[in-house]
Amino acid sequence: MTVHFIGAGPGAPDLLTLRGRDLIARSPVCLYAGSLVPAAILDHCPPGAAIVNTAPMALDEIVETMRSADAAGQDVARLHSGDLSIWSAMGEQIRRLKALGIAFTITPGVPAFAAAAAALEAELTLPELGQSLVLTRTPGRASSMPGGETLAAFAATGATLAIHLSIHNLAQVVCDLLPRYGADCPVAIVWRASWPDQRIVRATLGTIEAVAEGGPERTALILVGIVLHAAGFAESRLYAADYDRRFRPGSAQSRFAGLFE
Ligand SMILES: C[S@@+](CC[C@H](N)C(=O)[O-])C[C@H]1O[C@@H](n2cnc3c(N)ncnc32)[C@H](O)[C@@H]1O
Repeated sequence: MTVHFIGAGPGAPDLLTLRGRDLIARSPVCLYAGSLVPAAILDHCPPGAAIVNTAPMALDEIVETMRSADAAGQDVARLHSGDLSIWSAMGEQIRRLKALGIAFTITPGVPAFAAAAAALEAELTLPELGQSLVLTRTPGRASSMPGGETLAAFAATGATLAIHLSIHNLAQVVCDLLPRYGADCPVAIVWRASWPDQRIVRATLGTIEAVAEGGPERTALILVGIVLHAAGFAESRLYAADYDRRFRPGSAQSRFAGLFE
């Protein structure tokens, strides 16, 4: 018996990996984080599967459900939104499973920031303008932030920011970022990226509060950085006609000549 942790993607039911879909289809028990996992993904469960929404459950109850399935020899599909590597609460679950000697696997998913970037038709790393992306959040009721991980500290790098779990905190986000990024810095907010009711606003740090006024207070990503509004950026050297590389040697004298057949 195995617990399969599966990244269920940002919302659109077809943004699920084939591996994730197949694991769901052969697991007689499915636990899903109902606040964000789209119900349509549950259609992949086999007939008669026990399907449990874990949104109202405590960690002890969730692990107990996994333990019971283990005792009954049943595989479990455990679905979390987006990818499992960020803000999924998978870490505490696998720590318990290890202590209980219950096997598990991990199948990644499409994270919300990638779906938001797609909605914005944006590459978040552009030559010479932005080569780093910070995935972060602001403190919440259930989660404080480690001392050094302040927006002001990340702002000091000038990197592009993908700020999660913070739409209710927009005024503070703007206040923390204005001194370093300036009022003209592009900002985009994507609510429910890839869901049918996806919504996007684009503005600047100076105007975003007014533009986003009245928007939903949940399930939004705030993206900040010059890459969001860049038109005149340099082209990548990778595809430059004169760039000598292993997969496209520039001449017979290239150090890469003959290496790639
Ligand atoms: C608990 S975290 C889950 C993140 C998820 N594991 C991921 O890989 O994206 C929830 C936060 O992610 C962001 N989020 C999740 N799904 C989203 C979506 N479809 N559109 C915009 N933001 C989303 C929001 O900031 C939301 O408050």
